[in-house]
Amino acid sequence: MFRYVIRGGKTLSGEIPVRGAKNHVLKLFPASILFAGPVTITNVPHIEDILRAGELLENLGFGVEKRGERAYKISPPRRIASSLLEKDIAERIRASILFVGPLLSRTGRAQFPFPGGCVIGRRPIDLFLHGWTAMGAKVAMRGAMFDIRAAELRGADITFRVASHTATESLMMTAVLARGRTVLRNAALEPEITALAEFLNACGARINGAGTPTIAIEGTNGKLLTGGTTHVIPDRIETGSFAILGALRGKKLRVTDCNPEHVAVLLEHLRAAGASVEVGENWLEVSRPSRLKAVSMRTREYPGFATDHQAPFVVFLTQAHGYAMVFETVFEGRLSYLEDLNRMGANIIQCDLHRAIVSGHTTLHGRSMESPDLRAGMAFVIAALVARGLSRIGNVYQIDRGYENLDERLRAVGADITREN
Ligand code: EPU
Repeated sequence: MFRYVIRGGKTLSGEIPVRGAKNHVLKLFPASILFAGPVTITNVPHIEDILRAGELLENLGFGVEKRGERAYKISPPRRIASSLLEKDIAERIRASILFVGPLLSRTGRAQFPFPGGCVIGRRPIDLFLHGWTAMGAKVAMRGAMFDIRAAELRGADITFRVASHTATESLMMTAVLARGRTVLRNAALEPEITALAEFLNACGARINGAGTPTIAIEGTNGKLLTGGTTHVIPDRIETGSFAILGALRGKKLRVTDCNPEHVAVLLEHLRAAGASVEVGENWLEVSRPSRLKAVSMRTREYPGFATDHQAPFVVFLTQAHGYAMVFETVFEGRLSYLEDLNRMGANIIQCDLHRAIVSGHTTLHGRSMESPDLRAGMAFVIAALVARGLSRIGNVYQIDRGYENLDERLRAVGADITREN
């Protein structure tokens, strides 16, 4: 088990590159089940969740080959012999649920456990099950495994009760090979969904409206997609986390290889708090002002304030002057890290499962803690970089799931962070 050892207080400057988006590439791996020919994916980050996604594909008979520094070639077998998503692997990543729709439409069956991932709330899968059922599938439970069968998947008119990022991607992929037209209403708008649809369309799918609340898919009636090559879009969560870090400790900290448009709302919050933020086409530069002021926030689906930026932003608020209300509307278990920040010296009152009040400015002191999940782990790294003294952050596996060589990239801009066994 690795841990990060961080001495806080350093000023950060120079360039920090953003890697490819975890939540885009984790959809491209399962999408390759819809293909007759090989899929090449470039700009793939070196993160743990990708290894798990590759293992799921290999178990289904796919060739998963790493090519060069950041490319993967995924080669489909002539026939997919199994419909089973290995329990031990699927339980480790939420994205395992994304394999189900493509597998069902390709083989007529999918067996899988309840998906894993970060423990940030209930995270039900009712929207997925409802969608597959509407398309003609039958859902059964065998022990701890779901067993879904569909002799044929038919297009359907599906309205999501809530806009869900992965349910939108899942039903969009399921509909690609189906018979007839599927319409998804109240669809989520995340840029990863649009990027996925563009790639599928370039290879023979007929998807209209991705990136809007209504997506229409004309099924190919079983005709597989041709092979193709696609590039993973920049990780907007990483982009935003580095921007927050810049506003706290930056002296012209330049975040490169990113798309600032995807974090526009977060950047407005940083500007409102007094940070200096400049943006270019694929970079942004942030510096810490002499005084930060508190800004309240409420998380929302894209293009609103991302729930994945909530924890790093709370660290930011501990350094701002005044009171701020934090309202986490998307997940109900995403404030459990607050106690650790209070133990570092923060002054945060949790009102209920969704709301907290942060009063600042407070001085944070380094301490030892365990990373509870991916984004809270990143928040602890940011808190440790701001704090006085030494911090140790254990359970780095959680951070490695989504951030490639974080310590190395942070060291390159002046952070005092090492990885210890
Ligand atoms: N929801 C349901 N039923 C469902 C699915 C979702 O009620 O069947 C609810 C959820 O409980 C939540 C809301 O819908 O209240 C929205 O959640 P969403 O489904 O959009 O989240 P997700 O698709 O499970 C993805 C990302 C998350 C990110 C959220 C929100 C992936 C693999 N995961 O999750 O990423 O926080 O969207 O943008 O794309 C992370 O990367 O650390 C992470 C947790």
